[in-house]
Amino acid sequence: NNKIIIAIDGHSSTGKSTVAKQLAKALHYIYVDTGAMYRAVTLYAMRKGYIDVDHFDVRALESELPLIRIRFERNANNGLAEVILNDENIEKEIRGLSVSRHVSKIAAVSAVRKKLVEQQQEMGKDKGIVMDGRDIGTVVFPNAELKLFMTATAKDRAERRYLELKERGDDVSYEDVLKNVVNRDHIDSTRKDSPLRKASDAIKIDNSNLTLDQQFEQILILAQTKI
Ligand code: C5P
Repeated sequence: NNKIIIAIDGHSSTGKSTVAKQLAKALHYIYVDTGAMYRAVTLYAMRKGYIDVDHFDVRALESELPLIRIRFERNANNGLAEVILNDENIEKEIRGLSVSRHVSKIAAVSAVRKKLVEQQQEMGKDKGIVMDGRDIGTVVFPNAELKLFMTATAKDRAERRYLELKERGDDVSYEDVLKNVVNRDHIDSTRKDSPLRKASDAIKIDNSNLTLDQQFEQILILAQTKI
């Protein structure tokens, strides 16, 4: 049994984490949500007042990067990994629209990427890992055995994210969610350092018209051919 690395990239809210979790469970692999790591740094910067709609103190954030410790911890109740920032569980807080509004600006900072990419590479050194993000197949694990690139229409993606946020009890409008999804994709795809793009050897999956089960079935077969 050959352990592999599975890299899943794509636009915002394409269901990357859903497939990644399903795969990790089926294969008994580790799942790492790299978006959560960028979200954690964003929350840190927001709390310190380093970032807001109209200002961003990149230097202050950069100088404090060594103080930011991020790790994942399993929730004993549901078995899912949750993000811990300097010993505080911030899982719920990082998923809201306020963090989503600033995260792409934080993720465009090279020093932030360098720190997080190093940590991600360390987590995957023994393989047996499913990692999702924006640059996993292009930068973090360019030699990953299986690379997927997920897309869906902006409308489908915003609808899913909107329902997720509503379910948590967040007071958001569909229009704001759509705007955020489109805006993040734009910033993520046009930044200088590690822009979001499909690796040439990644398999493109448009799941606009697939059920979760259909999608998982297809992807599991792909994974099994590599193992
Ligand atoms: O995956 P998620 O939507 O939670 O990611 C939040 C943001 O983090 C993305 O919009 C992107 O700006 C950034 N990100 C990134 N590289 C990754 C994962 C996420 O730049 N590998």
